[in-house]
Amino acid sequence: MDQTQSDALVFFGATGDLAYKQIFPSLQRLAKRGKLNMPVIGVAKAGWNLEQFKDRAKDSVEKNGGGADPVGMPKLLERLEYVDGDYNELSTFQQVRQKMGSAKHPVHYLAIPPSLFGKVNDQLKASGCADGGRVIVEKPFGHDRASASALSAEIHRVFDEDHIFRIDHYLGKNSVQNVIFFRFANTFLEPIWNRQFVESVQITMAEQFGVLGRGAFYDGVGAIRDVVQNHLLQVVSNIAMEPPPCTDMEALRDERMKVLKSVQTLEPHDLVRGQFKGYLDEPGVKPGSQVETFAALKLHINSWRWRDVPFFIRTGKSLPVTATEVIAKLRQTPPVFSEKLTPQNYVRFRLSPTPVIAIGGSVKEAGDRLRGCMVELEAGQECGTNDLLPYEELIEDAMRGNQTWFARQDYVEAAWRILDPVLAEPPAVISYDPGTWGPKESDALTANCGGWMNPK
Ligand code: BG6
Repeated sequence: MDQTQSDALVFFGATGDLAYKQIFPSLQRLAKRGKLNMPVIGVAKAGWNLEQFKDRAKDSVEKNGGGADPVGMPKLLERLEYVDGDYNELSTFQQVRQKMGSAKHPVHYLAIPPSLFGKVNDQLKASGCADGGRVIVEKPFGHDRASASALSAEIHRVFDEDHIFRIDHYLGKNSVQNVIFFRFANTFLEPIWNRQFVESVQITMAEQFGVLGRGAFYDGVGAIRDVVQNHLLQVVSNIAMEPPPCTDMEALRDERMKVLKSVQTLEPHDLVRGQFKGYLDEPGVKPGSQVETFAALKLHINSWRWRDVPFFIRTGKSLPVTATEVIAKLRQTPPVFSEKLTPQNYVRFRLSPTPVIAIGGSVKEAGDRLRGCMVELEAGQECGTNDLLPYEELIEDAMRGNQTWFARQDYVEAAWRILDPVLAEPPAVISYDPGTWGPKESDALTANCGGWMNPK
């Protein structure tokens, strides 16, 4: 692992949506914490000058970053540089190299469509910008296993694996990292975290909003490629992994990888795809598009720990709430009392918007009957004040060469392996009303496990 500190940050796609929504707010915070004492160079082809680019940064933090910080924003503006140019022209990259000044270890963030990675990569090399540097690439990495592998080969022409940072912002969320921490730091949980005690696991990532003007991008990916292949399989890995044998970063990544290796390739009958009514009217969506905005699926993990414990994943746009939650239902106790069964125990990780960890338990209902009612023992998750934004943490990690929370090539390919067959021949898409929990057909998946538990 190369832990040399980066000394320049270059981001491509600097006038785009991702930079606007995520990158500038994170840069402002990094600047505030004194982590951005280096040239910060935006590159795009928008016909802009530096002043317009700075205005974009200001607007971005107003709309998406809680406003301009009196310390962070001036520092960021002072560091910002802008290169307007075509990625096909070597001169664009020569200008970048020049603005990098004496920097020897730049990090290049490719916030651009994957189809441009190869070109930009080669130009980085030809211009000398890649020397001593690292590259951050956005998800989804490829659109199937073959393309992910081809993309890696393309990037490996210039950067070796130690210098490639495949970003998945879910890995930068404290609540997602805490799944691993909570599991392995608490004696009471680990003994029951297996097929003897857990009956099923559900992961729901629900979004109340639609595609928010990203129709053209979204229609090229759909829910499975947008969030299941990456964010939600990462959550599965954290839930299901074995404790790493040592504190080494690769050991953690190895364990997450091993989970995917034991996941059975998804069968079409374990998948329900949906599309909300009105999606076809979204700008950028192709007429008659069959792309899913909802997916519910059942995974089988053939490991010693998890065999025969179904892992259900459900995600969708235009659902009733915005929340991401994991619920592990524990097996029912044998009946002891004459009244109906006591409610089943569960462990609930709410990952967003407000992180919570809760254990669902049963207590006797008040009154003269021996009947159980459900209560939760709840842990508000966050302690400490170091509330890093996911992108803020990940950009900082990339700048110091820490790959712990980035996806390795073998991991990404293993994730595609699980989904490739159903992506190649997907079951028909079923329409659903916005504001509902997707097509009714998805209920059948969890029917034998007590149904879906909807986040509130
Ligand atoms: C992005 C997806 O990666 O994650 C979006 O492209 C999705 O479609 C978003 O809305 C969700 O992220 P978060 O952090 O807001 O839950």
